[in-house]
Amino acid sequence: MPDLFIDNVTKEFEETVALNNFSLKIKNGEAVVLLGPSGCGKTTLLKTIAGFLKPDQGQIRLGDKIVSDNHEILPPDKREMSMVFQSYAIWPHKTVFQNVAYGLEVRKVPKSELSERVHNALSMVQLDGLEHRYSTELSGGQQQRVALARAFVVDPSLLLLDEPLSNLDANLRVEMREELSDLHNRIGITFIYVTHDQEEAMVLGDRIVLMDHGLKVQEGTPEDLYERPINTFAASFIGTSNIFSGDVIEESTDNSVVMKTDLGPITVQQQLVNIKGKEGTFCIRPEWVKFHNNISTGAVNSFNVKVLKKQYYGKYSRYTVGINDKEISVETTFDSAVSIGDEISMEFPPQYCVCLRQ
Ligand SMILES: Nc1ncnc2c1ncn2[C@@H]1O[C@H](COP(=O)(O)OP(=O)(O)OP(=O)(O)O)[C@@H](O)[C@H]1O
Ligand SMILES: [Mg+2]
Repeated sequence: MPDLFIDNVTKEFEETVALNNFSLKIKNGEAVVLLGPSGCGKTTLLKTIAGFLKPDQGQIRLGDKIVSDNHEILPPDKREMSMVFQSYAIWPHKTVFQNVAYGLEVRKVPKSELSERVHNALSMVQLDGLEHRYSTELSGGQQQRVALARAFVVDPSLLLLDEPLSNLDANLRVEMREELSDLHNRIGITFIYVTHDQEEAMVLGDRIVLMDHGLKVQEGTPEDLYERPINTFAASFIGTSNIFSGDVIEESTDNSVVMKTDLGPITVQQQLVNIKGKEGTFCIRPEWVKFHNNISTGAVNSFNVKVLKKQYYGKYSRYTVGINDKEISVETTFDSAVSIGDEISMEFPPQYCVCLRQ
């Protein structure tokens, strides 16, 4: 498949701007995950790419070929794309087998080959033996898997997946996630994948595109988005962040700035220049905060705090600590004898304090 281009696409529904001058390039074979809050335009984007919605402005291209603009759209069945809808959209009057076979029938695949391909697809989603059931006789998770099998049975070049695993139980979800990831690596199919599950986004996405109000907020590798969020929205939507603001009181040549915050002066790795005298904002992830069982270490950005809350998660513990009416989340994997009410010391290594655009 040629590369896919979304060029300045705007799509409005009455007063809602679902996509706002949205552009994105997706390389052949890439797995791109769309992340963002409910209503930010993810489904609208997938439907526009698939040809179910016509853009009001802008265009969708496959290589040089325009497949959608505000005049004309190439119908979905003429594109080498399959979409798994958020609502599954499987036919109630057809059996599981007939649902999955439909796309192959339309493409006039011979009967013997058709049957084998349908069985392989059903077996991949662990639905063997349920071929003759109707959708009313299936659980939500089983219907979702029919929708998945129906999408990849036709060997599409591009798979558009709208929260395809949301209704599966935790174990099956992880298993299907691995299956999809293998499928992607094995046959080099291009994926555009919508999920609310951050772990799924990190594991499946070569690239993550974070959206808000029909706009692209940030795109990059999972590492980029987690380790270098661009603004407070990105820092709080993906993972948890402690966010602080303060006037920049010192700008030094060694790539750092000092901000005057509620915690006192904090040295932050500088990513912005010429901001002395202006307000700056930075974030630090709970697991990047260093945690000392005793009081004051004298290191840069270290201060004493009081332990307010402890939550034990098995693999790690999350503490909420307080200083000057501010609460900070801290995660630590080592077993510490710290109890609620204890005074301990905390350190923000400057290289883990990430400057944000507000
Ligand atoms: N057919 C429609 N008519 C009117 N408004 C619509 C229509 N489809 C979508 N919208 C609006 O456009 C915006 C984007 O909707 P969209 O379904 O793309 O969001 P989403 O990111 O997929 O959300 P979710 O995570 O809840 O599925 C929302 O405000 C929604 O209410
Ligand atoms: Mg949606």
